[in-house]
Amino acid sequence: MTRASVWAVCGLLGAAVAGAADPPPRSPPKYETRADHDPDGIGKFYLGREIAHVMGYQGAGWLDRPTRVEEEEPAKLLKALDVKPGMVVADVGAGSGYHTFRLAPLVGETGKVIASDIQPEMLKIVEARAKQKKVKNVEAVNGTVKDPKLPAGGVDLILLVDVYHEFEFPFEMAEKMVAALKPGGRLVFVEFKAEDPAVPIKPVHKMTERQVLKEMEPFPELEHAKTTPLSWQHVIVFTKKAEKK
Ligand SMILES: C[S@@+](CC[C@H](N)C(=O)[O-])C[C@H]1O[C@@H](n2cnc3c(N)ncnc32)[C@H](O)[C@@H]1O
Repeated sequence: MTRASVWAVCGLLGAAVAGAADPPPRSPPKYETRADHDPDGIGKFYLGREIAHVMGYQGAGWLDRPTRVEEEEPAKLLKALDVKPGMVVADVGAGSGYHTFRLAPLVGETGKVIASDIQPEMLKIVEARAKQKKVKNVEAVNGTVKDPKLPAGGVDLILLVDVYHEFEFPFEMAEKMVAALKPGGRLVFVEFKAEDPAVPIKPVHKMTERQVLKEMEPFPELEHAKTTPLSWQHVIVFTKKAEKK
């Protein structure tokens, strides 16, 4: 074998090894900005949808409003999630921890809830609540607009309640979340139904099921497992496929 052909073989082997470890190729995200847009949105569009403004920490009290139990049926949501002791669950865009502290007793001492948010003020509320409730299995994590800072391949369930429509970089966030899931792990979107005009939420803070499915199309690792309807929201569940050997 000539030296050149040895290098060619080495190169091919290297590519095969790199190919095994690399994530599958995806089409790059296509964001557009439009001057004419909904004042509740940021003027940035992804796959035809306008991204909403982030809910500021000043509104944290609204997340714990008593009427939320009727409006969003958190008990029904938790039942649909089927959380088991020992699981690692990430509540991404956790806000003040409305769901974090409902999940914590379900994962138990052997499990963990990672509460990730981009607003340190929200995380301070989560930490104060954990201290006050003497909850030891909640970890507050300061994510960025492109990265929720979750352990790669270390999460059983990622929960996004009323948050995905606010992500400034939905493609990049989804890429990181998919990487954080264990094979068989679930990515769950809970979004207000844009299909239903009777749901009294501002249009850019709602999403259709179809739009969520469209935005996950660049991620062939995910499989749409089911959608459970709540009265105002959809619970859209994707499962991460097992890796091919
Ligand atoms: C409407 S609140 C919902 C909070 C919580 N999920 C709940 O149901 O009570 C949305 C939260 O998402 C957070 N958020 C927005 N973009 C984010 C991102 N890229 N990564 C993590 N959190 C984000 C906001 O800071 C805010 O706390």
